[in-house]
Amino acid sequence: MLNSQLMITASAPGKVILFGEHAVVYGRPAIAVPVTCVQATATIEPGEPGIIIHALDTNRTIDYALADPSDPLAAIVRLTLAHFGIRQADLTIAIRSTIPIASGLGSGAAVSCAIIRALAKWAVGVIPCDRPGVITPDYPYIDDATVSSLAYEVEKLHHGTPSGIDNTVIAYNQPVYFIREQPIQTFSVARPFTVAIGNTGVASPTKIAVGDVRRNWEAAHDWYEVLFDQIGHIAEEARAAIESGQIDQLGPSMDRNQALLRAIDVSSIELERLIGAAKAAGASGAKLVGGGRGGNMIALVDESNQGAIVAALKNAGATKVIVTEIK
Ligand code: PMV
Repeated sequence: MLNSQLMITASAPGKVILFGEHAVVYGRPAIAVPVTCVQATATIEPGEPGIIIHALDTNRTIDYALADPSDPLAAIVRLTLAHFGIRQADLTIAIRSTIPIASGLGSGAAVSCAIIRALAKWAVGVIPCDRPGVITPDYPYIDDATVSSLAYEVEKLHHGTPSGIDNTVIAYNQPVYFIREQPIQTFSVARPFTVAIGNTGVASPTKIAVGDVRRNWEAAHDWYEVLFDQIGHIAEEARAAIESGQIDQLGPSMDRNQALLRAIDVSSIELERLIGAAKAAGASGAKLVGGGRGGNMIALVDESNQGAIVAALKNAGATKVIVTEIK
């Protein structure tokens, strides 16, 4: 039982990739934004002997001392404690998340970031001195870049060859224009816009879709490079449109991005059903988000068509629809 007097809590948002998934693994730009209405939360209560991790949504309890080192939850605890130079700790970590698992909304990276931030808050109470570089004015316990790079290590366990976009957008909690292995570029949204995010209800591990795309790329290298270039170009144009408030350009860009995602074979019947329903109800653009094959899709909505699009997504089988403003 957690004692609320001693509890330390930290949260991290979900995310959606607006443009550029998959091509981003091959060095092309992508745009991702946080989705703050869904969150992963880690709560720490000091005092238990050893470290016990409770993943409450999946009903899993992990005894850290006995855990498989490649278990993502044990790994993020190990990496974070090592970052603070802590060898031994007695605490219970409880994890809860409203972000659907394996569905393109970044649940793995969000859980990692929440655990890192909670452990960082706890660590300031137990490490004897300030460590240079750890304390920043914006976040007193750990900086965003460190949160992102620790979470990236665990993304490798989830994904195999992750681009790093999930950990980046979630750790910085800001819209990002992301190019692999380049310094992070955040950008501003000149005119807020709204998307409906529809869940197919089909869990789809990103690792499998990313692995299949890699095999296809190896087999048809030149063709896939052309497709990735086109996806990257759409992300570049979309950034300019978002920064200059030309929201009417985004719908057609989403449709073109989706056509290319179909061409690289990461769409699915369920995704196409939701995308078709959103378009038929008036969305000016719609596409899958994240790894694809299942998981979530997004549709651009406005005040006049939002209700009809949400209803159409539900009628077409969406298990959950989230409406969120991008700003
Ligand atoms: O499925 P998600 O939300 O983890 O997003 C994966 C995005 C990919 O571009 C397909 C992979 C990556 O590492 O960037």
